[in-house]
Amino acid sequence: MAENFDVIVIGAGPGGYVCAIRAAQLGFKVACVEKRATLGGTCLNVGCIPSKALLQSSETFHEAAHGLADHGIDVSGVKLDLARMQARKTKVVGENTKGIEFLFKKNKVTWIKGEAAFTGPDAIEVAGKAYSAKHIVIATGSGSVPLKGVEVDEKRIVTSTGALELEKVPEHLVVIGGGVIGLELGSVWRRLGAEVTVVEFLDRITPGLDNEVSKAFQQSLTKQGFTFKLGHKVTSAKPEGKGVTLTVEPAKGGDAETLKADVVLLAIGRYAYTEGLKLDAAGVAVDERGRVKIDAHYATNVPGIYAIGDVVAGPMLAHKAEEEGVALAELLAGQAGHVNYGAIPSVVYTWPEVAAVGQTEEELKAADIAYVVGKFPFMANGRARAMGATEGFVKILSEKGTDKLLGAHIIGPDAGTLIAELTMALEFGASAEDVARVCHAHPTLSEVVKEAALAANGRALHI
Ligand code: FAD
Ligand code: NAI
Repeated sequence: MAENFDVIVIGAGPGGYVCAIRAAQLGFKVACVEKRATLGGTCLNVGCIPSKALLQSSETFHEAAHGLADHGIDVSGVKLDLARMQARKTKVVGENTKGIEFLFKKNKVTWIKGEAAFTGPDAIEVAGKAYSAKHIVIATGSGSVPLKGVEVDEKRIVTSTGALELEKVPEHLVVIGGGVIGLELGSVWRRLGAEVTVVEFLDRITPGLDNEVSKAFQQSLTKQGFTFKLGHKVTSAKPEGKGVTLTVEPAKGGDAETLKADVVLLAIGRYAYTEGLKLDAAGVAVDERGRVKIDAHYATNVPGIYAIGDVVAGPMLAHKAEEEGVALAELLAGQAGHVNYGAIPSVVYTWPEVAAVGQTEEELKAADIAYVVGKFPFMANGRARAMGATEGFVKILSEKGTDKLLGAHIIGPDAGTLIAELTMALEFGASAEDVARVCHAHPTLSEVVKEAALAANGRALHI
């Protein structure tokens, strides 16, 4: 006899574990299946959390080695203890994954340990045991996209997972892909002393970001010592001696060249992960990119089976997966769960940070929407000067005529925190003037947001 639950969630990443907790809060009998030894999925184990721990540590190291003298603080002889830095990261990850275990116990969510495979439209098998449920949620996340001719060994040719575990700072790190992973993890190793070369297929980095921000971002990283090979693709990477030899070709054709690296980071995107799940046994349909097909209420083509997070279409972000987890649990309980996909912020946790919400200038142009730009630089902000962090700007896009906020883009100190205010404004349908008329504490970085909103109406005060 199969053990029965109201809701079984497959995968305990930010989508799955949040969905399980919310469903339990709403009174369902819930189980969550996870094959990893710890809960939290990609994000807590090998994604958001370990990368942010290393970004924080490497930033602190870099600041101590290069930034403190300016403040009149002499700390000569700064040394790196990479083993300790890595141990700290492991501790941070452990605290977070254990935290989810605690939350499961608190909310009476059963953790079924092992890999789930469908045996029918309302049934799965895990480690030889059968389970059934009225509602089954697929939240199996994503994996790293492979590249022909570049075989990952997670030592010399690594994905983000291996790049978070290096035991030695590489002399030369070649990153394939100028996206979020490449630039965040490239920043970690650059700050710790590696030479970093990014090979990007397109003629720009971070596709999807507002062009102007993306350009400023590339300039800033170049100043920090990054080398960019835009419009190029890697056709092979072969381990040779202690390093790796790469063949790189112009994306539009031309002569190939050779690059030598100690470590190669492959970061050309992530794909929806459904391996081992036996979707066929339940008859669940996927799209042309292997993503589970869903309707506006997360329902697949099979009644009773739903999907959320990285395994479905949309931005591959932890907070998007979480919002979907909550919305789905509430829909299953007959409530009005909803996600506003037009107001999902995204943040790149580099220095400076980059954050965005809503539409870019390019998207507005393509949609033929008339807009106004309000921009203000951190250079003209007292707090940013006091911090010695004056790089970047806030850019607000509002609709011409109505002043309705359409998008916001920030490159600068603490951009990831500053975007929250503008996300809230976008969610509430605010105008740039609404943001501008809110009293912002002085001296704070948030005054740059206010001034950019004022600038959208041509009345910035401090420039
Ligand atoms: P996942 O977190 O991938 O979880 C899916 C889980 O399902 C996994 O634990 C897997 O083991 C399990 N699973 C799969 N198949 C089965 C099966 N058959 N049976 C049982 N269990 C199964 N996003 C951000 O928003 N901010 C960031 O700063 C950020 N940083 C990142 C850094 C890196 C290096 C990476 C790789 C990603 C980062 N992301 C970040 C993206 C974020 O990690 C994902 O968007 C998020 O984890 C997606 O959540 P999810 O629940 O859909 O899937
Ligand atoms: P990405 O989609 O951000 O960037 C991949 C880059 O690789 C693109 O610029 C693309 O043009 C380039 N590319 C593709 N094929 C190539 C090739 N053959 N040669 C050279 N370049 C090539 O993907 P990335 O960086 O792997 O990250 C995956 C996902 O993880 C992101 O989409 C993001 O959603 C998530 N993530 C989010 C973070 C955050 O929120 N701070 C941090 C890290 C990851």
